[in-house]
Amino acid sequence: MAHASELPYDQRPANRDLKHLEGEYGLPFVGKTLDMFRDPQGLFEHYYEKYGPVSRISITGNKCVLLLHPDHVQRVLMDREKNFSIKMGWQSVMADFFQGGLVMRDYDEHRVHRGIMNSAFKPQAMRSYADRVQRIVERSVERWSVQDSILFYDEMKRLLLEIAFDVFCWVDDSENVVPEISKAFTDMMEGALGIVRLDMPGFLYHRGLEGRRFLKRFFMDLIEKKRRSSDEDVFAHFCKEKTETGEYYDDEDIADHMVFLMLAAHDTTTSASTMAAYHLSNDWDLQSKLADEVAEWPEELGFDHVFHQTNELICVFYETIRMHPPVPLFLRRTIRECRFGDVEVPADTMVCVPGTYIHRLPDWWSHPNTFDPVRFSDEVSEHRKHNFMWIPFGGGAHKCIGMHFARMLFLLTFRELLSKHQIEYAKPDYYPAKLQHFPFTRPLDSLPVRLTARG
Ligand code: HEM
Repeated sequence: MAHASELPYDQRPANRDLKHLEGEYGLPFVGKTLDMFRDPQGLFEHYYEKYGPVSRISITGNKCVLLLHPDHVQRVLMDREKNFSIKMGWQSVMADFFQGGLVMRDYDEHRVHRGIMNSAFKPQAMRSYADRVQRIVERSVERWSVQDSILFYDEMKRLLLEIAFDVFCWVDDSENVVPEISKAFTDMMEGALGIVRLDMPGFLYHRGLEGRRFLKRFFMDLIEKKRRSSDEDVFAHFCKEKTETGEYYDDEDIADHMVFLMLAAHDTTTSASTMAAYHLSNDWDLQSKLADEVAEWPEELGFDHVFHQTNELICVFYETIRMHPPVPLFLRRTIRECRFGDVEVPADTMVCVPGTYIHRLPDWWSHPNTFDPVRFSDEVSEHRKHNFMWIPFGGGAHKCIGMHFARMLFLLTFRELLSKHQIEYAKPDYYPAKLQHFPFTRPLDSLPVRLTARG
């Protein structure tokens, strides 16, 4: 029988012996997971102050090396020496939910699969999405504005899922499947947090798996129809694409990519938009300034405007995802022994980079707990002190493929909202509200707001 060290890296057991590192594991089995759910910044601040940039921690059922320095972040995300497996990192927590998605594939396999998806995110394709996004946004904002108040998170989720369907997977919704799909995505992400991992009725984890099974079936059932259709959405493109040997890609692969893509496209942007509205509702002066700014923009936003220029609204987006990154941590597993400073980390060890605290490291950010979009302005550019101190979209080969799409969604949605309305909390003395941090940050009560017409 082969010795464990002779097996390929993705068949070896994880190393759980980190006694030589400073740190603490916490409670048996759950470790520090519950502390992280309650107060992620407080937890990582404690580790940083007590143990410095490299320590050991136990979270999500894994004994991990916790990395809290932009140099270490760079090393892991860029992974020039192919030392850090993303597949083995996410597998330990999300295997059943992210199955087959791009973040579950390493190196050459990842490159081939990302190649299939890339064309959907090229400038030409992005231009064609903008019009459709704009129309859906206008309709939704109009509907919200005639209601006494709305739950911003819930409405945003509905809007962004509708956009994701329209752009990535056009379906005839005469049977009103979107609410059921939305619920399945919510169940799936909540299920991923289930501490007891039993696929049995009554457990959160089981509900999550049921959600995923429903979604996968939904996409699998549509593949043949999509192949025969003249649809030009991303799903149709995956279905019609052929391998070098002239065969269609595997149906399972296509359905897995769609589940992951739709999840990545709408849940992250829902959280970011909600947290931006949460901060903006607390600062009406900033809202007026932004309304003046967007009033100067041309009706049809140019490519540069959407994707490259710095403006005050984009600074609000960047600051929101600094304070509340929709992907709060990165998980990887070492393939071979590595060093971080003078600390040796054995092969097959989980490493955790918590973006949520890298974005608040007191040695890199001034007043890290204050919402201050100006830090991203061209004049200040605080985030440019180190290329890896602001990592909401990750970095290296797995850097978010939908980054520009997310930027476009944010600009179009908030231009529509702020040019016509002021966003106000619907409850008195609302700020600061109680926040939920996982799976995505949002106010616990979904952020009740009202839109009042701008004079
Ligand atoms: C504010 C919005 C978003 C944020 C903060 C975000 C963040 C991220 C991060 C951090 C990763 C890398 C994960 C890792 O390295 O472990 C990632 C990957 C990914 N994101 Fe996003 N994302 C956002 C929006 C989107 C959108 C709108 C889409 C699709 C339209 C998308 C699709 C993806 C995909 C497919 C990957 C996997 C890429 C790969 O592994 O090659 N994301 N995202």
